[in-house]
Amino acid sequence: MKSQELRQKFMEFFEKRGHKIVPSSSLIPDDPSVLLTTAGMQQFKKYYTEPSLAPSPSVVSIQKCFRTSDIDEVGDESHLTFFEMLGNFSFGGYFKEEAIKYAKEFLESVGLKIDYVTVFAGDEETPFDEESYKIWQSLGVKDIRKAGREDNFWGPTGAEGPCGPTTEIYINGVEIWNIVFNEYYKKPHLPTGRQVATFEKLKTPGVDTGMGLERLVMVSQNKKTIFETDLFVPLMRQATEEDARKKRIIADHIRAITFLISDGVRPSNKEQGYVLRRLMRRVITYGADGYELLKVIADDKNYEHYKLDFEKMVYVYNDENKNFAKALHLGLKELEKLEAEKIDAKKLLIYTKASVCRSKSSKTKPKI
Ligand code: SER
Repeated sequence: MKSQELRQKFMEFFEKRGHKIVPSSSLIPDDPSVLLTTAGMQQFKKYYTEPSLAPSPSVVSIQKCFRTSDIDEVGDESHLTFFEMLGNFSFGGYFKEEAIKYAKEFLESVGLKIDYVTVFAGDEETPFDEESYKIWQSLGVKDIRKAGREDNFWGPTGAEGPCGPTTEIYINGVEIWNIVFNEYYKKPHLPTGRQVATFEKLKTPGVDTGMGLERLVMVSQNKKTIFETDLFVPLMRQATEEDARKKRIIADHIRAITFLISDGVRPSNKEQGYVLRRLMRRVITYGADGYELLKVIADDKNYEHYKLDFEKMVYVYNDENKNFAKALHLGLKELEKLEAEKIDAKKLLIYTKASVCRSKSSKTKPKI
C-alpha cells in the first residue's frame, strides 16, 4: 500500500471511532525543557493531568518528530532523525481494551499480521500489566512476551509526570507500534524526606500511541529498509552518492533539513539551529546537490499538505552553503598559516641548533 493511502486509512479509521483529527504541531515544542518535538504526545502532555482542557476525549494525529538520540544509527535499515508518527490518544476516555483492539483491527484492515507483542513484566516499582496480557490473549495473539522497564515503560518526560506501562507490536521482527497506558503519576525522589520515587494512580488514565509511518510503510510494502519505500525512492534516486550508507544519510538529513527550516529553524551555533547546521554541513560535505534534493521533496505529493516553501528552503540552504564555504576557506587559511609557522619554527630550530654547534665548535677551535 502506498504511504499516502496508509496515512489516509489511519486517520479515517480513528475518525470513524470518534477521534478528532488534530494537525501536527511544530517541530519546535512550546515546552522549553525539550529542544525538539520527539513524539506525538508532546503537544497533548497537559491533557493527561487536565483532561478537561483537551479538544476532545479522543484525538488522532500524524506528528512531525525529530530525534537526535538516533543520529548515529542513521544509515542502517530503519533509523531516522526526522520521521512522522501516527498516533491515537485518549484523555480519560477509552483505555486498554479498546486501544489494543483498535491497534489489531487497524493493522488487519491494511493487510498486516502481528508477529508478536510485548507487555510490561513488572518490577519493584510498578506491577506486571496483566490486563494487557489478558486482552491480547483474548484476541487470539499467541506470542506475548514480557519485557522490563527499559522497553515497556514510558515516561515521564522529565523527572515528574504521567507515565505507565506499554505494549509494543512487532511485524516482520520490527517494532511498529508503541501503545502507552498513562496510568501513573511519578513524583521524583526528594533530596530530603521521600527517598524513593512514588507512582500514584492518575485520576483519569490515558492512552498515547505512536507508530512510525516510515516503518509501517516498510512492512506494508514488504521492503527490507525504509529507504526502499515510496517515501524515499525519489530521494534515493536523486542522491548520486555511491556509498550506500552515505546515500541513506543524505536522504534522511535532507528531509530533516526541509522540515526544520519549514518550522522556522535557522542554522546557528546553538540549540535547534546547531542541530540544523550539523545536518546541513554533513550533506554539503558529502557533495550532495541540495537544490535538486530539496526540489524532490517540494514536488512530492506525500508532503503536499505541509505546504512547503521551496524558495525559502533553497535560500536558507544556499546561505549556509556559502557560510560553510567561507568558514572552510578561513579554516584552511588558518591551517596554512599554522603550517607555515611550523615550518618557520622548524627552520628556527635548525638555525638555533646550527648556531649552538658553531659556537661550541668555535670554542674548541684553536685561537689564531
Ligand atoms: N510516546 C510514545 C512513543 O513516542 C508513544 O507515542 O513511542
